[in-house]
Amino acid sequence: MKYLKFLLLFVTLSTFSQQGGMWIPSLLEGMNEKEMTSLGSKLTAKDIYDVNNSSIKDAIGHFNGGCTSEVISPKGLILTNHHCGYSQIQSHSSLENNYLENGFWAKNLKDELPNKGLFIEFIVSIHDVTQEVLANINEQMTEKEKQSAIDKASNGILKNWPKEDWQDSKIKSFYKGNQYFLFVTERFNDIRLVGAPPNSIGKFGSDTDNWVFPRHTGDFALFRIYADANNRPAEYSENNKPYTPKHYLPISLDGVEEGDFTMVFGFPGRTNEYLPALAIEHITKDYNPTNIAIRDAALQVINEKMIADDEVRIKYASKQARIANAWKKWIGENLGIEKSNAVENRRKFEATFTKALKEKGLEDKYGDILPEFDRLYKDFGPVNIKHRNFIEVFLVTNELLQMTFRTYQMEQAMSKNPELFDTAKQNLIGRLQGIHKNYNVDVDQGVFKNVMPLYTDNVDASIYNNTAFTNLDTALKLLEGSPKEVLKNINNDAAYSYAKPFIEEFYNEIDKEFQQKNEPITALQTRYMTALMEALPNARYFPDANSTLRVTYGQVRGYSPRDAVYYNHVSYLDGVVEKYIPGDYEFDVPQKLLDLYAAKDFGQYADTNGKVPVCFLGTNHTTGGNSGSPAIDAHGNLIGLNFDRVWEGTMSDMNYDPEICRNIMVDVRYILFIIDKYAGAKHLIDEMTLVHPKK
Ligand code: ARG
Ligand code: GLU
Repeated sequence: MKYLKFLLLFVTLSTFSQQGGMWIPSLLEGMNEKEMTSLGSKLTAKDIYDVNNSSIKDAIGHFNGGCTSEVISPKGLILTNHHCGYSQIQSHSSLENNYLENGFWAKNLKDELPNKGLFIEFIVSIHDVTQEVLANINEQMTEKEKQSAIDKASNGILKNWPKEDWQDSKIKSFYKGNQYFLFVTERFNDIRLVGAPPNSIGKFGSDTDNWVFPRHTGDFALFRIYADANNRPAEYSENNKPYTPKHYLPISLDGVEEGDFTMVFGFPGRTNEYLPALAIEHITKDYNPTNIAIRDAALQVINEKMIADDEVRIKYASKQARIANAWKKWIGENLGIEKSNAVENRRKFEATFTKALKEKGLEDKYGDILPEFDRLYKDFGPVNIKHRNFIEVFLVTNELLQMTFRTYQMEQAMSKNPELFDTAKQNLIGRLQGIHKNYNVDVDQGVFKNVMPLYTDNVDASIYNNTAFTNLDTALKLLEGSPKEVLKNINNDAAYSYAKPFIEEFYNEIDKEFQQKNEPITALQTRYMTALMEALPNARYFPDANSTLRVTYGQVRGYSPRDAVYYNHVSYLDGVVEKYIPGDYEFDVPQKLLDLYAAKDFGQYADTNGKVPVCFLGTNHTTGGNSGSPAIDAHGNLIGLNFDRVWEGTMSDMNYDPEICRNIMVDVRYILFIIDKYAGAKHLIDEMTLVHPKK
């Protein structure tokens, strides 16, 4: 009975299948393989992950550390989201060559555009090293001692682990430090832009449609991996050649129906599925609202200026998208948590857990955990908010403050060690150049005026008239001369001397207190995970996302966001035309696309009903970082490209609920249609392998 309750709360509320979880690809044999088969999969665990033969995992690359991408041709062609390649597309764009506005399509390999700093990393193999990592840990150790023993053991293991010269390795913690896995990886650094649709396709619906369904965004872009003469990772060189992958995904032209099996394979970034009720309450009632308010205040200014000014629109495109994205997600998260009674349910679950501890005689061992969480979170709450608010103001929304923050870091580095002056200065110069590349003083001062009152009573916007930092040349002048002169220059600057006390307060008080109060919570979370698995051993546990390769699976499904409303599992090109608002910055549609629609010139990409599918929904448990992940059918073919979740379900990072949590994918046939019919880039289609698994 007690298990049943637990299952109902944590595992699934669904009537159609048991779902949820982001699973480690090397451990699918057994429970996952069986469950996938029952959902319609024809794949074996070895088809997905195999060390000795090529397998699907060889086609999945971590895109620039933050998104996912997949190989879709034998010539290293890469598919990811438009929003994942956004800053690269932006960096090649200017008013004359506006690839954001007009799209970009390389006609041949020579036209493909290199991207400094961009990389794609593949997983070669995964190894459980838990025993070795935890070998020297004992219960008498303090948290600090434990961590340093873990670090020491990890370094030793990594040093001796066999790998090729061109490979890397790393160890990551799972289940809150209850398990450790070692990853051997291969990182490619010569990644070129091949194709991108215009914003009016790739970002269609922009912020209004972001995180919601029905959705009509063609959120995709194409890149290519280049390798050296031996097909190995290499820095950019004209002599590099298109990479020959160990595996690439065939592409299904047969589409999806409701109930079809889908698997999403990628690099989810961070989830927190095992939080105590009090933590969920703190995040949604106190923490999120303050950060939402700060971003709200910044976006008011940025949005207004972007609409009014073409140049500002290009410069702030990427930054605005980043700020607006989490802002809207947090709002949805709060709604979902409230609507699903997540806090209340988690409390009920905690009662079940407490009962299980009693029944198993584990009270002495673990009975202190929940009360201790209560005590720690009450103490941690205020500083957690203050800490994040500082980051939101000084590092996310306002650029002048960000420049002063980086300058402060230089000052700290050089006063600790004068020999660091040159490196620290070069570092700062790089930062300043990066910020000024896309800087507009008006926008920034407006943001300052709106945002700063949410952080302090001491708001002084006149610093904008008396600082050298708002202009790159004058900012760099501050850094000329001897270390002593530089120190004098920066400390005489109005913005710097205004910001410095805030930054000092952050480092000397806020951040210290934050670390100090966060540490015991992290340690308790580790014990809680251990306790859960011991007290309720038959439940479904999956490790929180940690930017490592994971498999999540489910089925194609619509959902009901509220009473009497049902969202179909698929949207069509008809919906793009329905939403069309000529000249609108979110809902304009390119004339060429309207023409193709009017002529019904859909080629082989329409569904059996004669319509072009655009996006579809699934019950795959995804999060940030899964952007660009392939949606794969029962046979291992590409059917879609993951790019978002539905608003009502963004709480899945803390509280996955299969009733309303859905991931949103672009139908791969829409991608092919845009490449072929809209862009006329048939040569790219010819590289791919198109298949008909249902015929
Ligand atoms: N919400 C998606 C994600 O979390 C897409 C973001 C890009 N789109 C946008 N309008 N900002 O990344
Ligand atoms: N758009 C997200 C990303 O950039 C994926 C959507 C999500 O958070 O589920 O990774």
